[in-house]
Amino acid sequence: MTVKPIVLDILPTDLDHARLPKHIAVIMDGNGRWAKRRGLPRIMGHQRGVDTLKDLLRCCRDWGIPALTAYAFSTENWGRPLEEVEFLMTLFERVLRRELREMMEENVRIRFVGNLEALPPSLQDEISRSMQDTQTNTGIQFTVATNYGGRQEIIQCCQAIATQVKQGLINIEDIDESVFEGYLYTTGIPHPDLLIRTSGEMRLSNFLLWQLAYAEIYVTQTLWPDFNREEFHQALLAYQQRERRFGKI
Ligand code: IPE
Ligand code: IPE
Ligand code: MG
Repeated sequence: MTVKPIVLDILPTDLDHARLPKHIAVIMDGNGRWAKRRGLPRIMGHQRGVDTLKDLLRCCRDWGIPALTAYAFSTENWGRPLEEVEFLMTLFERVLRRELREMMEENVRIRFVGNLEALPPSLQDEISRSMQDTQTNTGIQFTVATNYGGRQEIIQCCQAIATQVKQGLINIEDIDESVFEGYLYTTGIPHPDLLIRTSGEMRLSNFLLWQLAYAEIYVTQTLWPDFNREEFHQALLAYQQRERRFGKI
C-alpha cells in the first residue's frame, strides 16, 4: 500500500511544517462593513464570505493543517434584523447542500457545534446529513460554530454534569478538567493553537471561551471577504514567531 503524502510543496518556504498549528479557529468578522464600503447590502458581504471560508478550508488541507473551526453565527447574532438572520440561515442551508459532495470528495469531516436544536428544522436536517455522511472521512476536521455561545456551552456542560451527579453516576470530587471537556460540544477535537480574527476587533465575542484559554491570538484589519492565502500566510508566520510558555518560564 502506498501512503499518499500530504501536499507540502505549496506550503510557503518560510513556514516550518513541523511547527504549524494543529487546529486553527477563526472569527470571520467584517462582512457587513465590507459590503457597506461598496454600497451593497450587508448580506452581499456574507455571500462573499462563503468563498473566503471555502478557500481557507482548502488552504488548510493543502498546507497540512488538520483542523479548522469557523464561527458562523453566535447566540447573540439573533439580535440582528430578522431579514439578515433569515438570509444567513438560508445561506448556511444552501451552501451546505451545494458543498456536501465536494466535501466528501475532499475527505472533509464536518461537525457543527452550538445549540443546533434552535435552528430552522430544514437547516438542522442538512446539518445532520452532512455530519452523518462525512463522519468516517479521515481528512481535515472542519467545525462550524452555529448558534454557538461559549457561555451557553459551559452552562450546558454544568447542567449535564449536575444531572449525572444527581443520578449518582459521577462523584463531585471526580469532576476535573478532563471530565468537563467530555461535555463540551467540541469534545474529541484538540483545542485551537491559533485564533484568527478579521476586521480588527480585539475581542472573543463569546467564542470557544474554554478552548481558547491558551490559544495564540492574531487579529488582522482585513475584512473577512478580503482575507486570502497571503493573509493566512502572514498569520502563520506571526504564530511561528510566538513563544508559547503555557505559564512556565
Ligand atoms: C461576520 O460579519 C459574520 C457574522 C457575524 C454572521 P459581520 O456581519 O459581523 O460584519 P460586520 O462586523 O458588521 O462588518
Ligand atoms: C462574532 O462577530 C460572531 C461571528 C463571527 C459569527 P460579531 O460581529 O457578532 O461580534 P461583535 O458584535 O463585533 O462582538
Ligand atoms: Mg461583526
